[in-house]
Amino acid sequence: MSARVLFEPIGEEIDCGDEETVLEAAFRQGYNLAYGCREGQCSACKCYLLEGEVDLLPYSTFALSESEEASGYTLLCRALPYEDLVVELLHFDPDSYRLENPIRDGRARLEALERLTDDIRLLELRVEEPLDFSFLPGQYVDLWVPDCDGARRSFSMANLPGGGRIELMVKCYPGGRFSGLLEGSLGPGEQLRFTGPYGAFHLRRSRRPVLMVAGGSGMAPILSLLRQLADERTERMVRFFYGARTRHDLFHLEEIAALGSEIGDFRFTPVLSDAAPGDDGDGERPHALGFVHELVGEYLASGEMEDLEAYMCGPPAMIDAASELLTGHGVDDKRIFHDKFTIAADAAERSETT
Ligand code: FES
Repeated sequence: MSARVLFEPIGEEIDCGDEETVLEAAFRQGYNLAYGCREGQCSACKCYLLEGEVDLLPYSTFALSESEEASGYTLLCRALPYEDLVVELLHFDPDSYRLENPIRDGRARLEALERLTDDIRLLELRVEEPLDFSFLPGQYVDLWVPDCDGARRSFSMANLPGGGRIELMVKCYPGGRFSGLLEGSLGPGEQLRFTGPYGAFHLRRSRRPVLMVAGGSGMAPILSLLRQLADERTERMVRFFYGARTRHDLFHLEEIAALGSEIGDFRFTPVLSDAAPGDDGDGERPHALGFVHELVGEYLASGEMEDLEAYMCGPPAMIDAASELLTGHGVDDKRIFHDKFTIAADAAERSETT
């Protein structure tokens, strides 16, 4: 039996199947509701049940306390309707609650696997289904770990949409359920299942200068945005700070320089946290030394950029430190966009983006 779910105050109605959560059903029918972890951990999908009852899949009481549940709040990513529902959305964007690209299940063939650094691999996938798969630069897909009972890992696209291609950067962790397969058992020719595209991390249309900050495999969505800006031959000022440990952890330097040459006012600053003394690059490509957020702080203090938008992707500590600096320099929270890694509980591996 399926249930009808009416969303207020937008007045839109969807069908929700027996085994589906309300959030999955909304995605399937093209609605862009607020979400984060999709696993009952973060509370981003919390809303209020005006009518009807739901069964809840396991969730954290950090996301929904007992008293909140008792007073009618629920988590859309965990809610299986017991009957028809009327749901009051607490967070939604009245101008964009429809998804630009529906979230669908698909299949893709791994065409190439390239070693970018000691622990980052580039995966090039050819989409076999759906053939019209598309995404916004900055979004991500979930890859289903082969032969592993429903385990999924999230990775951002590094390429631009089009041509049926997906390019991902995967950081390898010892024992990582997905990344561990890249050390031998998963190679070109394999077919992978995916679901997506997910995520609200994408470039906002404006004339504001763009500050980009990335660390490690957080390069992927930022590179996708950079490719978009270069493709559009943007006139916006763009500054890109990239954090790595040593110069051996830097990659795609030539491509970044080439993309930058399509942008009127662009500067790229690689920042090395663990470089040997004196290893500050060659004359042509200097590296800054320190932590990436420290360099961002120095840059903000220089006052070159005003009224900026910030786009960041990388480990939570990097994003939190850089966000604090940005707000400390008067950047409005609403102009700070990030895609933060979290780590799967069962393996030290990126599992989710927000
Ligand atoms: S708790 Fe539902 S998306 Fe995180």
